[in-house]
Amino acid sequence: MYEQEKTILAKAAIKHVRNGMILGLGTGSTTRSFIDVLGKWVEEGGQVQGVATSDETVEQANRLNIPLLSLEEVTHIDLIVDGIDQIDPHFRVLKGGGGALFREKVVALMSRKILYLADASKFVHHLNGPLPVEIDAFARPYVERFLQDKHVDVTLREQGGKPFVTDGGHLILDVDLKQVQDVQHFAKELKSLTGVLETGYFERQPDHVLTVEQGQVRQLAHPDLRDGGGLV
Ligand code: 5RP
Repeated sequence: MYEQEKTILAKAAIKHVRNGMILGLGTGSTTRSFIDVLGKWVEEGGQVQGVATSDETVEQANRLNIPLLSLEEVTHIDLIVDGIDQIDPHFRVLKGGGGALFREKVVALMSRKILYLADASKFVHHLNGPLPVEIDAFARPYVERFLQDKHVDVTLREQGGKPFVTDGGHLILDVDLKQVQDVQHFAKELKSLTGVLETGYFERQPDHVLTVEQGQVRQLAHPDLRDGGGLV
């Protein structure tokens, strides 16, 4: 997504923020733009407290003087604002391209509302992955063998020629979904394996998604919500 589109989405997302909110702060380049805009909003007197989903987000929030709380300090989160990797027409979502899926999912589950920011490239008819799966390193051969038996291709995520390690100290397997008919069921099966911490299939779906088409922001509501979509 172009930087300009991310900024447009970030400025639209800030309209969902109210004084006094506890905000879940996602991870990734789209969310980074949002946190930049949030930083300006705070500088101009806006009052929020954030709960970060990654060390990277903690660092950015600290730099912008956005007050942070740990998960232990909150009983709820009003709204999480985050990016996504894929979304289908039923609002089923894949996340974790940035490797923060576990913390993002926990914070999303504690949030009253979920708002995702997504450019047009993130919308797909069928979730086709890859599906990130966060695992304990010791269980890697076991999980890989399970996937091989299912004839599913899997790649260990790397960074700078070394295995990518999450903030929680785990590895990520990126799983090809081309052979997978039912992603929801498959993700559940994976989650049940010993050594799998979490998958990038987000069972809790967003309330709203903001997207941008030719410079115009469109707000899409979850199919179960009645207020419909529309330009904002
Ligand atoms: C990080 C994520 C990101 O939100 C997702 O990968 C989208 O990233 P970007 O905004 O850079 O396209 O899930 O774990």
